[in-house]
Amino acid sequence: MTTTMALLRIRVQGLGKSFVLHHQGGVRINVFQDLDLQVAAGECLALAGASGTGKSSLLRSLYGNYKPDMGSIFVLHENAYIDLASAPPRWIQHVRRGTIAYVSQFLRVIPRVSAVDIVTEAAQFNGRSRDLARQTAQAILSRLNIGPHLWSLAPKTFSGGEQQRVNIARGFARECPVLLLDEPTASLDAENRDVVIRMILEAKATGTAVVGIFHDEQVRSAVADRIFTMPGQADAPGKERSPDCVC
Ligand SMILES: Nc1ncnc2c1ncn2[C@@H]1O[C@H](COP(=O)(O)OP(=O)(O)OP(=O)(O)O)[C@@H](O)[C@H]1O
Ligand SMILES: [Mg+2]
Repeated sequence: MTTTMALLRIRVQGLGKSFVLHHQGGVRINVFQDLDLQVAAGECLALAGASGTGKSSLLRSLYGNYKPDMGSIFVLHENAYIDLASAPPRWIQHVRRGTIAYVSQFLRVIPRVSAVDIVTEAAQFNGRSRDLARQTAQAILSRLNIGPHLWSLAPKTFSGGEQQRVNIARGFARECPVLLLDEPTASLDAENRDVVIRMILEAKATGTAVVGIFHDEQVRSAVADRIFTMPGQADAPGKERSPDCVC
């Protein structure tokens, strides 16, 4: 697939992000600068690069969690490109609700909320009934081998792999045009890893644009169409590399 012909869901231009550590002497960390990349419908872009080069920070920026210092992040939302780098917070919320699903590396546990309710909430959208959303949640939890005996429990006491599967179930609970995945299979066994690979491939087949961090080479080669290598400190500012097919 070429990104020039296909429908672009994400266009990142000249993106830069730094952090200032106000409680540690005002030290500035320049994470990345001048990044350009784009992702088309049905395509998966894998972010690669050494630890600390800003892969997770880039994903959080694409979700509107981190505000970049410079550049733009155009996301196709309801037939219009919205720049998440400059959009007001209520627009970012709007774009997230309608267009972007984000699976963080670890589940941020919500106290006393059951696994099935966490996923049901994500599955409920566009006036979909609570009952239907719950059925969807149960089906996706089952697919990820989270059995009924765990559904009514809060995930705080779950194993790392179980928590991550609840996190993945939440991210896949409804079809979103953009899917952001931060090491989704890092704590999974081979069987569950294969389930997640199939779910990512199914999402791509429906036209979802996927941006992911996959340290597992097997997962990466199964799902990624192109690799974007984050520039290291010593590198020149990052541009999208020529397509580097890993399929
Ligand atoms: N909220 C934050 N406040 C301050 N510094 C941050 C914050 N988030 C990330 N950083 C810094 O930005 C740099 C990039 O971090 P990031 O987590 O994006 O890297 P990464 O490529 O995902 O690394 P890894 O492969 O280890 O997950 C690191 O030096 C990190 O300390
Ligand atoms: Mg990371």
